[in-house]
Amino acid sequence: MKPATSAPFLRACRREATEYTPVWLMRQAGRYMAEYRALRQRSGFLELCKNPEAAAEVTLLPVERLGVDAAIIFADILLPVEPMGVGLEFAAGEGPIIRRPVRGAADVKRLPDVDPREAAPFVFEAIRKVRKALSERVPLIGFAGAPFTVASYLIEGGASREYLETKRLMHNDPGAWHALLERLVKVTVGYVNGQIAAGAQAVQLFDSWVGALSPADYREFVLPHTRATIKGLTAGVPVIHFSTGTAGLLELVREAGGDVIGLDWRVDLADAWKRVGYDVAVQGNLDPALLLAKPAQIKRHVQAILDRAAGRPGHIFNLGHGVLPETPVEHVIALVDMVHELSSLGGGLRPPSDSSPPGLRGKSPRSNDAR
Ligand code: CP3
Repeated sequence: MKPATSAPFLRACRREATEYTPVWLMRQAGRYMAEYRALRQRSGFLELCKNPEAAAEVTLLPVERLGVDAAIIFADILLPVEPMGVGLEFAAGEGPIIRRPVRGAADVKRLPDVDPREAAPFVFEAIRKVRKALSERVPLIGFAGAPFTVASYLIEGGASREYLETKRLMHNDPGAWHALLERLVKVTVGYVNGQIAAGAQAVQLFDSWVGALSPADYREFVLPHTRATIKGLTAGVPVIHFSTGTAGLLELVREAGGDVIGLDWRVDLADAWKRVGYDVAVQGNLDPALLLAKPAQIKRHVQAILDRAAGRPGHIFNLGHGVLPETPVEHVIALVDMVHELSSLGGGLRPPSDSSPPGLRGKSPRSNDAR
């Protein structure tokens, strides 16, 4: 068995050459899968997250069904703030709800100091179970929300379009804002390092909603906190820094840190890579809605993204955001195969290798020992 560090996904994180472009998908375990929907009929989302056995099972589903090059632990970015007593709930069809939002300095002061390692021990337990089950098949990614995105849920009380309460607090009471983000940095660093200690081999920070900010506000109110988070993480484990709607912020996102910059589909991959610099790897960036189109169309767009990456070491294929619940699972399976096949045929920059990509079903040693 090959050592985990030579897995194509981890090699790409380090910008080393790979036999084919590794691929995994944000939200690769979720409602688009019948197996997941079946599990969800029996238990609530939070209940699933808090059951390490079930969370491990869901984490492994896409590895077995799709042949992706990495697993991502089944959890949520809001789990570590639940012990702060903000009243976290997941309402059907609505996403997360925070019953007692944080709206001012007094609310921030009232938040109890939670020990991140005790906040979500079930996530660490699930990670240990997944690593055991995966053996060295594919690496396991841990994750957390970046401070801005988590703060936006705490302040808004749920999803938002305009982030008005978030911006109101940020501008009216910068002291309370920075105090809140400093609290979140501390919790997030402990939470992610706990995941690494439990066995996560790479970690992703999701700053899903930070694209709502101007460059000046990102620099003043977010960048120092995201940078402190990334600086606080255990050295030697690749950090993927993902955000969406940040075409106007990419250089600043990169400045905040990360070994891999996650790109959404609103940017051209080649232009974005040039902007963030070739001394970081990039991840992305197919429009998730394309997976609703016919496979021929998907293939055309996969090829276009691989062309933009031009075989340069350090590209991890992914969507520009999570898999949508409406996505046909066959299209997702086809996508993973397409990435493997198209990238192993065309890659002039790739060294010859003795192993075929897992996408060539039946021919790869990995798909045989996957059962
Ligand atoms: O990628 C994976 O497969 C791992 C699991 C994962 C989930 N949430 C499971 C989940 C990951 C990586 C997340 C991260 C997450 N959670 C983010 C960042 C990624 C992104 O999408 O921008 C955010 C913003 C959240 C907060 C959150 N949790 C939202 C907005 C929602 C509702 C949206 C939805 O899809 O329902 C959730 C719930 C959630 N998290 C579900 C899953 C599978 C759906 C719960 C259900 O079964 O009803």
